[in-house]
Amino acid sequence: MLSIKNLEAGYGKVQVLHGISIDVPRGQVVTLIGSNGAGKTTTMRAISGMIKPTAGEISLNGKRVDGMESYTITKLGLAHSPEGRRVFATMSVTDNLLLGAFPRLTGSRPRGDVESDLQRALEMFPRLKERTHQLAGTLSGGEQQMLAMARAVMLNPEVVLLDEPSMGLAPILVEEVFNIISRLKAQGVTMLLVEQFAAAALKVADYGYVLENGRISVHGPAAKLKDDPAVKAAYLGG
Ligand SMILES: Nc1ncnc2c1ncn2[C@@H]1O[C@H](COP(=O)(O)OP(=O)(O)OP(=O)(O)O)[C@@H](O)[C@H]1O
Ligand SMILES: [Mg+2]
Repeated sequence: MLSIKNLEAGYGKVQVLHGISIDVPRGQVVTLIGSNGAGKTTTMRAISGMIKPTAGEISLNGKRVDGMESYTITKLGLAHSPEGRRVFATMSVTDNLLLGAFPRLTGSRPRGDVESDLQRALEMFPRLKERTHQLAGTLSGGEQQMLAMARAVMLNPEVVLLDEPSMGLAPILVEEVFNIISRLKAQGVTMLLVEQFAAAALKVADYGYVLENGRISVHGPAAKLKDDPAVKAAYLGG
């Protein structure tokens, strides 16, 4: 589905990713774990075309996408829920969600039933359902985070990149976000997940990679990583 080989990327002269390889098979949840500054967000940005890789290959369904513009990559079915609540502040909740489906509405992705998907997204995120007409910029931080996630799902994507969907949320909402990830997984949505709650991420994921200073140090089935002493000590609170 999504395959990353020997990816290198960074900002200007600063190289952040030093040749990482990640495989996200169809229907699976893969998590990328790492300390602050390890390069997780940079990985997501390189995949979605927000920054251009300097080396390596990224393929989506066997098609090379590295070097493509991000809107082209979106059209091919890659949705990115970016770090830090990126919503269109002056648009309503509903319009933000419809914008997520834009490539479907303009015919550059299979249209399907946008209206029923909108209803389904709102059922999944009840807090948004109560606020469909509210301007996104007036939502609470946690609600905006959920809107960014729901908007990504509205693409009816081949694969979703979720960068810290629970960041800044109250514990009860963190739980809700993980429940939603489980439900999306049950629907067969393929996901690459970055989460500060590594233990919870490994619980919902099939496979995990640990990123240290721009390099993959360990990877394996999520159940195995959870019991790896080094992973436990560094990322799962001992
Ligand atoms: N726009 C930018 N310009 C220059 N350097 C950047 C930029 N964005 C990130 N970096 C640097 O790249 C490195 C990796 O950052 P990145 O955001 O990928 O880390 P991360 O693993 O997502 O961390 P966190 O867990 O804190 O979100 C850091 O050293 C960071 O300072
Ligand atoms: Mg980050």
